[in-house]
Amino acid sequence: MLKTPPTLLHNKATAQDAEEIRKLVGAGKVFYGNTISEDYARDELAVDTAFPDILVEPETTEEVAAVIRYANERVIPVIPRGMGTGLCGGAVASRGGIMISTVRMNKILEIDQECLMATVQPGVILMDFQKEVEKLGLFYPPEPGEKSATVGGNVATNAGGMRAVKYGVTRDYVRGLEVVLPDGQVTEIHGKLAKSSSGYSLMHLMIGSEGTLGFITKIVVRLLPLPRKKVSLLVPFPSLAKAIGAVPKVLTSRTSPTAIEFMQTDVIHVWEKAMGKRFPHATAPAYLLLQFDGNSMAELEAVYEKAAEVCLAAGALDVLIADTGDRQASLWEARSTFLEAMKTIGQVELADAVVPPHLIPEFVTYCDSLSEKHGVKVWTYGHAGDGNCHIHILREKGMEEEKWRKTLPAVMDDIFRKAHELGGQVSGEHGIGEAKRKYFLKYGGEVNIELMRRIKSCLDPKGIMNPGKVV
Ligand code: LAC
Ligand code: ZN
Repeated sequence: MLKTPPTLLHNKATAQDAEEIRKLVGAGKVFYGNTISEDYARDELAVDTAFPDILVEPETTEEVAAVIRYANERVIPVIPRGMGTGLCGGAVASRGGIMISTVRMNKILEIDQECLMATVQPGVILMDFQKEVEKLGLFYPPEPGEKSATVGGNVATNAGGMRAVKYGVTRDYVRGLEVVLPDGQVTEIHGKLAKSSSGYSLMHLMIGSEGTLGFITKIVVRLLPLPRKKVSLLVPFPSLAKAIGAVPKVLTSRTSPTAIEFMQTDVIHVWEKAMGKRFPHATAPAYLLLQFDGNSMAELEAVYEKAAEVCLAAGALDVLIADTGDRQASLWEARSTFLEAMKTIGQVELADAVVPPHLIPEFVTYCDSLSEKHGVKVWTYGHAGDGNCHIHILREKGMEEEKWRKTLPAVMDDIFRKAHELGGQVSGEHGIGEAKRKYFLKYGGEVNIELMRRIKSCLDPKGIMNPGKVV
């Protein structure tokens, strides 16, 4: 049985604390009480609001360290915050405390073209960073749906995204970190290195720790040469089962797709209505959206034609090829904004369980069956090629509170139990935060959770860093 962690008592941050923090970082960077905007009281999915007592916008590592040292001495919670685009309450001050925003730490410090690495502050916006490196013919592959997230937030949650099939996730691109530890010490971990066998990987411990072990103040990432050509295929199928059933066949076809996404017409129709735009094809029940990249059209043609054949043999109705930049951009732009569109039709709760990629047909088919079982809309789409499915449970307008309160946990539990049975995990890329903690504690593995708790209490004995999150 999992041991319940000792309840650590934290102090509330007061107006007096705000005054003291102003002395450390400057008056204009500290907000207290009702001067804090409501934006900071939630993330992209949270329904309930929870305000921090104090919001700080430091500019330097030294300022972050000074605030954390202060918080540690007074046992006040610290909540690291990027753009607040998270989906599981990881950057919400559910227990009050001092929220430290990275909004002013938003500089690209260096793009080193000799060693193909860049150094950024945590508040750099992902899409701005990608544009800057692309101007130099370089490529930062992590591609989550939400490109207005910060690079720091991506590292904190180990964000994944569409291109994980070929290129991996944020973790695979981080080379070094500067971190402020819970006691205020600043440490540099790893660095501009391509490899290292020097002790435990503190870097990988920090990546994905959702602000519970320290505050990331600098990030070194590796870059790749930018592939010169891209082609996308939109492939309509007569059913979801056929579409998702084709995925393992594409994965084993040795065509190295950059991305394999799946989607259903219901979601496309919601997107069309919400955005006032037309999707290029919306009459088939389900679709795969594939992308290939490389350095010449000849190289690409060989692989995408093979992938198209595989899809047709697996029952595809057609294969639409998008080879111009504009057409591809609009397809992927649509895919990236599905979640935004879904939120227009009611309350959405979202699970992002991950299973071994070859088991995605069984998992998606199971999740799809939950609509009927529970009498609630359960809609899926997502990263079929890496086994990471986004499962949306919709509270349509008019559903009674009582029904929603009973149904939601029952659906969530079915999803995570099934993912666990298939050898999967609770979150593929959004993180655990507060919203998925209950399920993580149930399905994360007792020994592993216990180990994580020990690591947490060793680094942060007073439990000030993002309390109530992850473990
Ligand atoms: C996406 C986000 C929700 O894939 O992860 O669109
Ligand atoms: Zn996603």
